[in-house]
Amino acid sequence: MSMTIVSLREALQRLPENAAEAIVSDLFAPHLLRALGFHSEEIYPEYNTGHGNVDKAARKTIGDNVFLHTKSNPYVLLELKGRDINLSEDAAQYQKTVNQLKHYLLAPNCKTVQWGIITNSCHIQLFRKHEKVIYPATKCLSIDADNIDKVIASIRQKIENPTKALTIAVYNNKGGVGKTTTTVNLAAILTVLGKKVLAIDFDPNQQDLTNSLGLPLNHGSVFDALKERDVELQSTIHTYKFPLKRHNIELRFDVIPADPALTNESEPILRNYLKINTLYRKLELSRQEYDYILIDSPPNWRVFSQSAVYAADVVLIPTKHNNRFSLENAAMAMKKFIPEVQNKKSDGSPIPLPIFFNGEKITLPQMSVAQQEINNILKTAKKEGFDLLSYFYPRYTNAKKDLYIHEVPSYAHIAGAAFSRIPAVYRDRPAHEYYKNLAKEYFLQ
Ligand SMILES: Nc1ncnc2c1ncn2[C@@H]1O[C@H](COP(=O)(O)OP(=O)(O)OP(=O)(O)O)[C@@H](O)[C@H]1O
Ligand SMILES: [Mg+2]
Repeated sequence: MSMTIVSLREALQRLPENAAEAIVSDLFAPHLLRALGFHSEEIYPEYNTGHGNVDKAARKTIGDNVFLHTKSNPYVLLELKGRDINLSEDAAQYQKTVNQLKHYLLAPNCKTVQWGIITNSCHIQLFRKHEKVIYPATKCLSIDADNIDKVIASIRQKIENPTKALTIAVYNNKGGVGKTTTTVNLAAILTVLGKKVLAIDFDPNQQDLTNSLGLPLNHGSVFDALKERDVELQSTIHTYKFPLKRHNIELRFDVIPADPALTNESEPILRNYLKINTLYRKLELSRQEYDYILIDSPPNWRVFSQSAVYAADVVLIPTKHNNRFSLENAAMAMKKFIPEVQNKKSDGSPIPLPIFFNGEKITLPQMSVAQQEINNILKTAKKEGFDLLSYFYPRYTNAKKDLYIHEVPSYAHIAGAAFSRIPAVYRDRPAHEYYKNLAKEYFLQ
């Protein structure tokens, strides 16, 4: 067969200029999958995801479980297009194809899938799936004979070495919207649900997360670890422990408490030590150890929040329905701050998760005021070239104009918990339910 002698590069060079999807599928996809490390018996065409058929699914053989035969536990999905479909990032067809891939990745038969790829043989993009969250693992890259071997080798390197953790920055430029409360209670509930969690207090001025758990501050050690090449961040971790007497077990999650030494220097001097990617680099080991890394950030756009967002795969944005600034700041993060960071990183991350409303009662009339405000924000954004609809109304489709926004209700026991040094979800049933719902809405498959 010609396929075994032709290289990926040659296959690409031989493709007709206007190759339709069937041609890309027959003459390009097999070489691509082989270059990604998959043999022919590890690939299944027209795989039934449960939400329609994706062009190819693949998984390495495990023992005598051959994917082509068992069709069980797919690992990567490949959605192919012809060259008539424009997959450059600003094209409408690109967004449509990404949405199609996401739909497949979240389908019932794809629970084990970790990666998704779209390509039309001119562009290619890799996406990571972490339970329910899908985020870019590369930018949408143009490929040609000159760069294809390099591009595919780097994609292969990623899919063969998946990062275990999803890193989440909890951020809103607006103060007092529930960033710290969300970080603490999400860390606590994900722990109950069996996940290994690291929470980082990256707000050294306020130190709220550290205080709300009754943990000692780090004095200089975080700064040292960030400054010194050979000091690991691991040495600054404290474990928060909560005994569940009824079950005779102890819940534990790891915390990096705030380090006030980080506030002793002026920002320009601090920036000599703390580059925007320093925290990201220092978390390399932790990304292989934890299921979730949560970073609490301060209410501004300076060195700590920038570092937190840079370190993150996704940004979780609490807002208040009755606070216009918290909504406008969410939009500002999506239009300006997050893209700024994306431009500095090379992998298309981080991306914003849809906003949620935190900690205020909402009556129906208040809801319609909030919706009006959001509609204005969306309109302005559109004029500036941003489509933010799915970040405010994630369930909205043309067929079903669903204006659902997730909500963590206002609840006295949530506010009171900080005084007891115990996360509300460990003390109180409703709080437990609220944050379990938040975890399910955003993260859990
Ligand atoms: N769902 C809720 N119900 C009741 N109170 C809440 C809720 N969420 C947060 N709070 C309270 O609102 C106040 C602000 O919350 P929090 O400190 O988490 O906000 P923040 O965004 O971290 O603030 P900052 O910008 O100052 O860091 C706190 O007193 C907290 O206990
Ligand atoms: Mg805070």
